[in-house]
This record gives sequence, structure tokens and C-alpha cells, in this order.
Amino acid sequence: MAQLWKGRFKKELAKETNDFNSSISFDSRMFEEDIRGSIAHAGMLGAQGIIAKSESEKIIAELGVILDEIKSGKLAIDMEAEDIHTFIEGELTARLGETGKRLHTARSRNDQVALDIRLNLRKEIEEIEGKVKALIEVICKKAEENTDAIMPGYTHLQRAQPITFAHHIMAYAAMLCRDLDRLSDAKRRMNICPLGSGALAGTTYPLDREAVAKELGFDGITLNSLDGVSDRDFCIELAAALSLIMVHLSRFSEEIIMWCSWEFKFVELDDAFSTGSSIMPQKKNPDIAELVRGKSGRVFGDLTALLTVMKGIALAYNKDMQEDKEAIFDAVDTVKMCLTAFTPMIDTMTVLKDNMRNAAAKGFINATDCADYLVGKGLAFRDAYKATGELVALCIDRGVTLETLPIDAYKGVCDLFDDEVYTAINLEKCVADRLVAGGPSTESVMKQIDTARAFIKIQIILKH
Ligand code: ARG
Repeated sequence: MAQLWKGRFKKELAKETNDFNSSISFDSRMFEEDIRGSIAHAGMLGAQGIIAKSESEKIIAELGVILDEIKSGKLAIDMEAEDIHTFIEGELTARLGETGKRLHTARSRNDQVALDIRLNLRKEIEEIEGKVKALIEVICKKAEENTDAIMPGYTHLQRAQPITFAHHIMAYAAMLCRDLDRLSDAKRRMNICPLGSGALAGTTYPLDREAVAKELGFDGITLNSLDGVSDRDFCIELAAALSLIMVHLSRFSEEIIMWCSWEFKFVELDDAFSTGSSIMPQKKNPDIAELVRGKSGRVFGDLTALLTVMKGIALAYNKDMQEDKEAIFDAVDTVKMCLTAFTPMIDTMTVLKDNMRNAAAKGFINATDCADYLVGKGLAFRDAYKATGELVALCIDRGVTLETLPIDAYKGVCDLFDDEVYTAINLEKCVADRLVAGGPSTESVMKQIDTARAFIKIQIILKH
């Protein structure tokens, strides 16, 4: 297909140049945005008297036909074209002749591509927001079912204090709520229309930029024409928000992988969301979680690629910027794919409450509560801490737990102990007493669930 810019050239483009220069293989996914942008532009050109109303109407009608034909498969996108903008304009001109050639009045591919990416990513963000919300809801549902599932909470991967499975996974709901907030924030700044920036210096035609922006659902128009065509902050911001989603999914995946191991056995994945080994018949592997953890690297790579492409280019548009699309589209596609597989994996996994409870019983995770019990009897926390440490050492020597250590042994370390200590260190009570906002008690976790659910609906700032 012919280039749009042939006038001053005497030779045909070398095949190698065309292959290297072309972006159609990765920008054809923006065909709808390109056409919708052109329809809005053509309408404005007609309304402003820049081209004849009758020609504007013909262009709009034919662009609508082209859109329908591409969608239905009747019209195939020519992969030899330089880019999607060239293809659509070429197709229009092939059909309308002279009239088709008027579409590009007062426009450059530089503001056109900036527009198309914004429109495309706006749509993608909305899809990703839906998927993140679905995951948050699945987490809330799983949490609701497991407010009584006592498990050890960890620091340094060492058993630390008693929590519940519900409390643990609601931490991920909190992270994902922030992710939603970041996505909508990125969308807010992205939703500004660059059309009218021209190649870099605006245009002499009497455009109505505001009308085009309004028609395309933007909240306003870009401030400066050089920035309008050479800003890709919105790609970088989105890639950063997507990277953080991947950090969160990757951390969650790591825990799922550990919890599936025989060493933990806190959860069992549904057969439909696990894989086997070709040689070891006993294996059931958490491949989805591992792949999500692995794919996080791709998205971080996409972010790094975007930052690197943009960091050294003089204003305004440079062809380097064509590299934006593969990176941001890969990040978008990867996150969508990960969320699509991850959410039903969480939804269908079985929580093995007894195994969690057994692990909780063995790690002295009520030691802080034991010390707090002595504080309640008037001892200073540091002394209570030391006495409890001695008790733990004694338990380890004897191969028992704080729950099964006889009262005489307690009294031998500190005479403030009496039988009530067994109630104070009961794990169910330890969790139930942690009524503090944000804590693991059922009341507190239910409040967290309610807040996360409300957040999904209205996206207020997440706080207790
Ligand atoms: N395919 C190009 C891109 O994605 C479109 C803009 C071309 N502009 C230009 N001046 N060559 O960046």
C-alpha cells in the first residue's frame, strides 16, 4: 500500500525500510478508535466550514461502513500498510476519491496517534477495572466464609501472631482497592484530547477542539501542542499502575504456591486450575500462580521500556515513540490474562482450616498474648516479655506448647501466673480480642469486607 507522504520522494521505499518502519502489526488493534476519531474530526471540519458539509457527511458515512466491514470481517486490514492510520485513510480515499483526501485537513498522524492510544487505553482501563473489581469481590466472598479460620500470621516467614485466613486475604483486597484507585487516576489524566495539536505547532484552521473532545467523551483538550503530540506520560502511568497490580498478584501467587505445598497444605487448588507432571504421577502443580508470578517481569519490563524510550527524545514527536504501543499493549494484555486466570483459581480453591489451625497451635504465636496477660497483672511489658521468652524456651526443651505446659512450670518462671492464663492464650480468644480497627477479629474483618465492597461501588479513598 502507498505511503501518505510520497510527494517529495523519487524512489520507492526499500522493503527493509517498510518492514522496519511499519507499525500495522501492533497498531491495527486501534482501528475502531482511529475511525471514531476520524468521524469526530470530519464532523468538526464540516461544522466549521473547513470542508463542505456534504463532503464531511460522505466521509462520516463511509467511515461507518468501513468500521462495520472490519468488525464483521468483510474488510481485512492490509498488513502491508505502514500503520492503521494510513490503512483507514487509504481505504476511505479508494472509496470516495477526492472527498476522502479531505479528511486529513488540519490533522497530523502525530495528533491522530496520540488520540487513538488515549481512546484505546481508556477502554482497556475500564476492562481491567472490571476484572480487578471481580477479584476483590471473590476475595471478599472467600474472606466472609473464613472469618473463623485461625492461621498463623508471619513475619520473616516465621510464625508470629494469630490471625485468620479472612484477615490475611483481605490484605490483598486492600492492595487491589489501591490499584483500582491508581487506574482511575491514570484514566482521569489520560482523558484529555490532543487532536488539534497537528504535527507539533497546531494549525491555522479554525478548529473547534472542544467539540471534538466532547464528542469523543474527553474531559478537556491538551494545553500545549508540542506536549499534545509528544506526551506519553499516560502510557507510563498506566504501565506503573499495571506493574503494581502485578506486584500484588505476584505476592499473592507466591503465598498460594507455598500454601499448596505439603509443608503448608493450607489450601488446595481445584483440579481445573492446577496441572500435573508428565513423569511424577503424584504431582499437582500451581502453574497458574507460578505463571502470574513469572509474568510480572514482563510488565515491569514494559514499564522500563517506556521510560527508556521517552527519557532522551527532544520535543516533539520522534519515531522512537512508535515503540510505546507494543510495550503498553503487552502490559495491558498480560494483566488482563493474569486476572482472567487468577480470579477463578482463588474462587474455586479449598481452604484447609484444620491444617491452618494445627500450624497455628505449634508456633508459640500466642506468646505476645501471654506477655500481655502478665502486663494485665501489673508487670512491665519488658519483664513480661522476658518471662514469656523463658517459658517458650522451656516448652521447646520439653517438646510441648504454651497451651499444654503445666501451671507449676508457669509459676516457676513468674508467680503472677494462675489458671486464667490458659484462657488468655487460647487462640480463638487471642483473635477475638483483637478488635482494633484493621485487626483480625471477626467484627473488624467484616468491617473491612464491607468497606472494600463499598469501595468497589463508589471508589472512595480506602481507609477504615
Ligand atoms: N505509526 C506511527 C506511530 O505509531 C504514527 C505516527 C507517525 N508519525 C510520523 N510523523 N511518522 O508513532
